[in-house]
Amino acid sequence: MERFALVTGAGRGIGAATACELGRRGYQVIVNYRSDEQSAATVVQRIEAAGGTARAVQADVCDPQQAERLVTGCPRLDALVCNANIPPPFAPLAGMSWEDFSGKVIGELAAVFHVTRQALTLMGAGGRIVYVSSLSSVLTRPGAIAHASAKAALDAFARHVAAEAGASGTSVNVVAPGAVRTEASASMRTPEVERALAEHSVLGRMLDPEDVAAVIGSLVDGGFGAVTGVRIPVDGGKSVMSG
Ligand SMILES: NC(=O)c1ccc[n+]([C@@H]2O[C@H](COP(=O)([O-])OP(=O)(O)OC[C@H]3O[C@@H](n4cnc5c(N)ncnc54)[C@H](OP(=O)(O)O)[C@@H]3O)[C@@H](O)[C@H]2O)c1
Repeated sequence: MERFALVTGAGRGIGAATACELGRRGYQVIVNYRSDEQSAATVVQRIEAAGGTARAVQADVCDPQQAERLVTGCPRLDALVCNANIPPPFAPLAGMSWEDFSGKVIGELAAVFHVTRQALTLMGAGGRIVYVSSLSSVLTRPGAIAHASAKAALDAFARHVAAEAGASGTSVNVVAPGAVRTEASASMRTPEVERALAEHSVLGRMLDPEDVAAVIGSLVDGGFGAVTGVRIPVDGGKSVMSG
């Protein structure tokens, strides 16, 4: 039977790598993007060149109507990966406006709320949902108050979706990446920062989007149906190192 996977924010970075991974695993992939049509088209081409099937669908997942249209346009839904990146303002509380803070927190939750509600009406037994959170949801780092608060709220949201969806056989989990080489992290990744990040991980290297995509692929397509409500750090071991 054909299996369908929707990846939000799949035009580049972790979402693009995840879409390719799921295409490789035989899912028909809906490659969601918000504004960059060309990047999404390139992801579709990459999946098709590898023998898979995909189509790009434009939708701002924070918008209720667009999110609903995105999901109801799927013939069926076996896997949902909520990955769209809502850029965080980085500043301490003293220098943070309520507009910037609430914009990140509300945006992060809006990006998962509407698609999840709609997706659960389509998914049956064996459905899989993965949310892309961040190591920041449990860490404390200067200037990350909005990002950390938003991702911690996402973790809580995911746990409750897991509890509600369990009865219908859908498993729901969170991956929490450390620093990953994507456009979103590019401005922070000086050679010194990259070196320090590598030194503070067990694997001794920074992660690429494909590292995160491989874990998401296994959660969605591997034998993880009995694993639900958990948060998996994908950080090369950074969270077990001190300092
Ligand atoms: N990179 C890291 O170091 C890192 C670490 C921890 C967690 N994460 C998390 O991983 C996820 C992906 O991050 P990334 O670094 O891969 O981001 P990225 O390279 O900036 O890519 C973000 C993608 O999200 C899409 N997007 C943004 N807003 C959207 C919206 N409202 N509706 C639909 N699509 C939207 C963008 O589409 P358009 O270009 O078309 O607008 C783009 O394809 C995020 O949730 C982020 O918080 C990243």
